[in-house]
Amino acid sequence: MTEPITIKIEKLVHEGKGLGRFNNKPVFVPFVLPGETVVVEIERRHSQYSQARLVKILEPSPERTEPPCPYFAKCGGCQWQHMTYEAQLEWKQKILAETLQRTGKIEDAKVLPTIPAPKNFGWRSRVTFHGNEQGQIGFFAAETHKVVDIEKCLIVEDEINQKLGELKKEKRQNIKKDYEVNTSGKEGFTQVNPLQNENLKKLLKEWAMKLPHDTIVELFAGSGNFTEVLIPMAKSIIAVESDRNAVALARKWLNERPLDVRSSMSAERFICTDAVKYFAQYKLPLDLLVLDPPRDGAAGIVEGVMKSRPKNILFISCNPATLARDLKYLKDFAGYHFVQSQPIDMFPMSYHIESITHITSP
Ligand SMILES: C[S@@+](CC[C@H](N)C(=O)[O-])C[C@H]1O[C@@H](n2cnc3c(N)ncnc32)[C@H](O)[C@@H]1O
Repeated sequence: MTEPITIKIEKLVHEGKGLGRFNNKPVFVPFVLPGETVVVEIERRHSQYSQARLVKILEPSPERTEPPCPYFAKCGGCQWQHMTYEAQLEWKQKILAETLQRTGKIEDAKVLPTIPAPKNFGWRSRVTFHGNEQGQIGFFAAETHKVVDIEKCLIVEDEINQKLGELKKEKRQNIKKDYEVNTSGKEGFTQVNPLQNENLKKLLKEWAMKLPHDTIVELFAGSGNFTEVLIPMAKSIIAVESDRNAVALARKWLNERPLDVRSSMSAERFICTDAVKYFAQYKLPLDLLVLDPPRDGAAGIVEGVMKSRPKNILFISCNPATLARDLKYLKDFAGYHFVQSQPIDMFPMSYHIESITHITSP
């Protein structure tokens, strides 16, 4: 056990932790706020920085609020319930801007104010509960695989809490198992916040409509969530996704649309393959590239971009760190210019940041 130390929190950084300093070295602390003076205990010491645990708040921030969930800080699902919602939105904008500057080397990046979510609680439509040998079901504690037993989660839709209640009653055997619950009825990836997803689709449509959009390629298309808004505006569109079930769903959906609605796309143009490999071989004309990769990003697409040179790229991302890395590659190797980024709050009460970014070729 180390001696408690007193530090002042300067700002929030990646993963929503607060940054303070001790002996001129950064100290990262969860569940604190900028401007707060706090007593912490160092838990892990690294050569360049330390991780610490909050012991006591000496001077609280005016942005501090009482977390409504009794599991907050034990369960690893939420990191920011101790902060007003307005402050969460501001910090998502600041963290995205700083990541674009530090990692992406984009000076004075124009990052617009975060679009608030329609609901702060009860918004999540897809979760994985974890069960353990002790018969508990819930979520993992932060940075562990230890199950925190939960009666009710404030973040998920009512239907998911009902399902959790049923799982708890049904569970006769005490086994280690994951339980996926998804109210969308679709398999594979679906956006977890359906109301805010509608706002993201509207935004994508607005931005794409202002750009040349006769020919569109959409990479990492899932089961066609964004394809749906791109099809009516394009003369020709190709969508690429590697998950076979998602592609089957998208093709089925497409075949059920009236012919005039899907004149820019046939089911065969919803292609089931690796997006990066496909795009490296792409040779047709291209006005607009839309991509929405998983958290790891899409570092490999730079090769295809250098060959096909779409005039504009709309990059949807759920991870500022990989977004900033990929934008740097697109700037350094393919000469693309950053136009603007719009954070949109898909994940209230958590540090996760969804955004859409426009870059253009000079
Ligand atoms: C963030 S999701 C976006 C899906 C879709 N845009 C949506 O809004 O529902 C990323 C998608 O990329 C797919 N994916 C992951 N790696 C891929 C790859 N190498 N090639 C093609 N698709 C991939 C995943 O299956 C997932 O559907």
